[in-house]
Amino acid sequence: MLYRLLSPLAVILLVNGQTDEWWPTATLYQVYPRSLKDTNGDGVGDIKGITESIPHLIDAGIDCVWLSPIYKSPMKDFGYDISDFLSIDPIFGTWDDFLELARVIKEAGLRLVMDIVPNHTSDKHDWFLKSINREDPYTDYYIWRDSLGIDQNGTQIPPNNWISAFAGSTWEWNEQRQQFYLHQFTVAQPDLDYRNPLVIEEMKNVLRFWLENGMDGFRVDAPGHIVEHIDFLDEPPTNDPNCPPMQFCQLQHIYTMNQPETLDVLREFRKVIEEYEVASGEKKVIMSEPTNNIVDTMSFYGTPDDPLMDFPFNVNFVFDINNQTNASTLKYAIDNWIDNMPAHATANWVMGNHDQPRNRERQGEEFAMALSMVNLLLPGISITYYGEEINMDNTFVSWADTQDPQGCNAGPEYYQRFSRDPERTPFQWNNQTFAGFTTGNSTWLPVNENYLYTNLEDQKLPNRIRSPFKIFQALTAARKTEAIITGSFEHRVLTENVFAFVREAPAATLNYLVVVNTGYAEDQANANEQFPQLPTVGTVYTSTISSNQEIGDVINLNAINLPPRGGIVITFTL
Ligand code: GLC
Repeated sequence: MLYRLLSPLAVILLVNGQTDEWWPTATLYQVYPRSLKDTNGDGVGDIKGITESIPHLIDAGIDCVWLSPIYKSPMKDFGYDISDFLSIDPIFGTWDDFLELARVIKEAGLRLVMDIVPNHTSDKHDWFLKSINREDPYTDYYIWRDSLGIDQNGTQIPPNNWISAFAGSTWEWNEQRQQFYLHQFTVAQPDLDYRNPLVIEEMKNVLRFWLENGMDGFRVDAPGHIVEHIDFLDEPPTNDPNCPPMQFCQLQHIYTMNQPETLDVLREFRKVIEEYEVASGEKKVIMSEPTNNIVDTMSFYGTPDDPLMDFPFNVNFVFDINNQTNASTLKYAIDNWIDNMPAHATANWVMGNHDQPRNRERQGEEFAMALSMVNLLLPGISITYYGEEINMDNTFVSWADTQDPQGCNAGPEYYQRFSRDPERTPFQWNNQTFAGFTTGNSTWLPVNENYLYTNLEDQKLPNRIRSPFKIFQALTAARKTEAIITGSFEHRVLTENVFAFVREAPAATLNYLVVVNTGYAEDQANANEQFPQLPTVGTVYTSTISSNQEIGDVINLNAINLPPRGGIVITFTL
């Protein structure tokens, strides 16, 4: 084992659980590697591009980088179909490029977390090729089932009615093995069989490999899908009239998702993390994607005696906040996580990711910024999807240009509803050709036409006083202050549309009052009424673009003016 040298003190601290966890107040940033920066002109982002972007992430106030997959992959699901968990795909660069990125990240004092995709491999993975051939020990690495016979068209009948997350049957007939294999995502992503202990061990070894190479932790992909029910019964229909034929929404996923054994698998992953914490003297993080309901998602936290994930992502925050939001529903979106979370757990806040339409598309330009004030100043971890710091929008991608398998499988009629391409387009660095993303003459997805205005360089100009990037910087700076790190949290509905919260700590020089207007008209709110501890005046720390409150203005807290869908952060002293 290549365990790093240990100081005995570190071991004692870890065993006693005293070493500080570094993530409970971290500002995480998700990099979608194809889309951050392209340095070799092929139109696809690469690792060298991520390395070149680190100064920007430092400037933005990020603490931890989470990389979506960069492993060897045929790219049928753009890296989430992995053909070798232990190597880097040449489209992203070389192993040395990766080591250099890891070095630059460490040197900057940031952390690096990798995506791990346990549910499936690529159909080009060696294990799968051997499994097709029934070569042991790989024969039962995947979920193989016999056909139920042949229908009148001469087609093999699949074992049951299960539908893949990306549409169509989850079952694919393999001529060579004369059996069906299960794939909960694309046909090119066969599901591993986690009832086979050898598979669990293989995946634990993958985790060990990356920990030995200095990773600070992992994001576990699609945990809800890891185990299927052993009886392979048909799933009941949802009878959802808005669900197109053969789409995932047709069925209630009671046998393909959230099986109790899933937690046993997560526990095994956790054990590896703990092994390495003791071995390295450093705290590692293991976080996961959520699943499709809050109760099962919360179960991923585990309990204090049986911790599983440090946190499952709170994508609920994405779904609970829509354009009908008023102050009470915004408060509900926050309570829905905090009230359901186990007592020992840390909250986290996500506004978007590579699977969801961008925050700005869902909320509009102004409210997207107001929500980032909420996301970044609530207690706990905040997670920023690349581009959110400059308020990037969804990009229109035509059917002809559609790349995402979920979009392609939906067909021309429905692709816009299912495709994830619009939220994956190139980062907008400046107002040059292709927004400065590439030196080449094309990009893998189109650059948003708004790049002339929505780009980093422009948002850093001195005359863009309240650009999304400057607001973001102010918020990440606030995250490093006492009131946000350790402060209390009180949230209130001030008017039908105005929601507010206070973060304060006895030792803090500055405390924060965050006020947002969910409504589509100007509004005025009295914060003193709901928060009697507040002084009568506070100072504007940052405000959204349409606000007429300038940074540094001293304002009365009993009459705070807000533009439609706008937000303001006010500092005060006690
Ligand atoms: C997760 C990923 C998604 C991917 C899927 C299959 O949901 O976030 O992007 O397509 O898993 O790996």
